[in-house]
Amino acid sequence: MNNPIKISPSILSADFSKLGEEVIALEKAGADYIHIDVMDGHFVPNLTIGPEVIKKLRPLTKKVFDVHLMISPVDNFIKDFSNAGADIITFHPEATSNISNTINLIKKEKKKVGISLKPNSKIELIEKHIDQVDLVLIMSVEPGFGGQKFMPEVLEKMKNLKELIDQKKLKTEIEIDGGINFENCGKAKRAGASILVSGSTIFNENQGDLKKNIGILRTHK
Ligand code: DX5
Ligand code: ZN
Repeated sequence: MNNPIKISPSILSADFSKLGEEVIALEKAGADYIHIDVMDGHFVPNLTIGPEVIKKLRPLTKKVFDVHLMISPVDNFIKDFSNAGADIITFHPEATSNISNTINLIKKEKKKVGISLKPNSKIELIEKHIDQVDLVLIMSVEPGFGGQKFMPEVLEKMKNLKELIDQKKLKTEIEIDGGINFENCGKAKRAGASILVSGSTIFNENQGDLKKNIGILRTHK
């Protein structure tokens, strides 16, 4: 079953001096989700924003906040990000000692659950949980920074994951994140992604024409 393609712009590539305006502009430009990259300088070698910033952004838009937690340990912060207004909370399995417990903590908050695989992390790491989560976030760059080069080797893994999901007749969606651009977005869709994250392509291509860039990623075959 093919889900409609959704575009989730990453605000990591936005102008941090005016994040509120950027989120409003993304909604106007037709974004389906807002991808919010949270980094703690421990799980990844970069630091970005926390729940307080998300709390301030929340009232500006009704769009889904697709929160990507690159933090560890992750459990202690689930409630904070839920209260701040996250709609989807995605974590990395390496950031918890008990994957099922982390999934249940997010479900208890009545939020959608995402689990993320870094480029070198195998499907086996999460295989027994794919029926418990709403989405799997396939990283096509090493987490930590925007503007990196797409790693095409993850497409094979994504195809295998999609086969597994279809075999089990699950509704689990696949989101791909990292280096997505106009050249590789078609391949990513064909390999099974129904949610495309993009930061630098959306904010930098076509003189930063958000609406045009979101439209190309959505329609490009
Ligand atoms: C990287 C983040 C990605 C990144 C995407 O750790 O998880 O969401 O911001 O940005 P681009 O599209 O520029 O790779
Ligand atoms: Zn991300």
